[in-house]
Amino acid sequence: METRILNIEGMNLEEKAFAKLILPNGEFLLPTITGTEGENAIDIRDLRKNSGYVTYDPGFGNTASCQSSITYISEDGILRYRGIAIEELAGKATFLEVAYLLLYGKLPSDTELKNFESSILRRMALHEDLKRQFDVYPRDAHPMAILASVVSSLAAFYTDEKIGDPESVYKNATRLIAKFPTIAAYSYKKSIGHPYIYPRQDLNYCENFLHMMFNHPSCSYEIIPEVVEALDLLFILHADHEQNCSTSTARLVRSSQSNIFACITSAICALWGPRHGGANEAVINMLNSIKNEGISPSDFVERVKKKQTRLMGFGHRVYKNYDPRAKIIKDACHRLLKRLNRQDQLLDIALELEEIALNDEYFIERKLYPNVDFYSGIMYQAIGIPTKAFTVMFAIGRLPGWLSQIIEFDSDPDNKIGRPRQIYQGPNKTNYIPILSR
Ligand code: ACO
Repeated sequence: METRILNIEGMNLEEKAFAKLILPNGEFLLPTITGTEGENAIDIRDLRKNSGYVTYDPGFGNTASCQSSITYISEDGILRYRGIAIEELAGKATFLEVAYLLLYGKLPSDTELKNFESSILRRMALHEDLKRQFDVYPRDAHPMAILASVVSSLAAFYTDEKIGDPESVYKNATRLIAKFPTIAAYSYKKSIGHPYIYPRQDLNYCENFLHMMFNHPSCSYEIIPEVVEALDLLFILHADHEQNCSTSTARLVRSSQSNIFACITSAICALWGPRHGGANEAVINMLNSIKNEGISPSDFVERVKKKQTRLMGFGHRVYKNYDPRAKIIKDACHRLLKRLNRQDQLLDIALELEEIALNDEYFIERKLYPNVDFYSGIMYQAIGIPTKAFTVMFAIGRLPGWLSQIIEFDSDPDNKIGRPRQIYQGPNKTNYIPILSR
């Protein structure tokens, strides 16, 4: 059998590890790549060209779509943004500081952060014409539908982006971070028939969001610092999570060189589903139905084990241990409820479900632990966010991650249009039959 080496240009063959692939048409040596945290990968870029074979990996569980220096996560429960542990950022940084870190790859100086914050705050208002777009939605429209369509409309208002010109991309990234909370708040105001509240430059990012959501011309809303802090923390914890479904979607859409608003719209749509960002809404619906139907948590877990339903907020494609974000959110949830002097029966049910599941063989065997969504909904609910808007909250938090990944994609010399292959399993060539002969 002939052995062919793929993609060896510039390699020191003695130092490199190779994967050996034995196929009916020959043996192939595939180069390997090792990440900075020691993850090993096989570089299959030239596999099809040289061997005629493609790889089959539904759900991409074994496929690295890029090399990235933004976020590191590991099976055993590590999450770092640009090398900094989430536990450290969650206690010390603000959301906009984290957004800067993700976007620019370094922590900002005091002046850089102030400039960044002010560039966001002064862009929070929506164009008046765009504001009128909210009038056309039905009152019970899902806020994710509104977010997706208003964000796609931004492309009609801001047409100055040039792919290959990072400055114009950063400018639109700032616009998006600025306008997301306003769009989210306006969709809520629309749903309850209240007037839209303009952002204020004397409030910070999270204060502005609460102000636009809950203030009203005839009765003012008190902004509680601990609520602001809780919201900021939730946004930090959601800010990036490497190549998840919505981020991969954003990168894929960018690969066709679509504008950044189109990329973010597609990411919002990918986030919406209950297997991804929609899980926070699904968790609260699950907890409510357990409460309202008087099901005991142990009976519910039995139904899960019989595969009649899933325990929403549990399980993760990468983490096979406690999601580090869930740990932080669980503590923050207790703190927030205490500060607001609230007892929440849903929290009690969630705690009981967790306790039962973590001690049950079904969950132990499958390494299913609470994920970021298990407790976040209880916090959003305590803050006053309607259940339907939970995934919008996730989107506000995740936006800096999506943007950073798009910016990284733009500067990647290996970037090309995303175009997976398939293995065709349909009929072989057959003839068209005229309609009257079928
Ligand atoms: N409840 C019950 N069983 C589960 C759960 C769950 N939440 N999650 C996985 N399992 C089981 C599956 O039934 C499967 O069992 P089997 O081997 O007997 O068939 C096994 O665990 C593996 O599950 P997969 O679905 O193959 O795992 P995958 O990595 O594809 O899915 C996912 C990950 C989608 C997150 C899944 O765990 C899930 O559906 N969880 C509930 C929804 C959720 O919380 N999503 C939020 C994820 S985090 C995020 O996006 C923010």
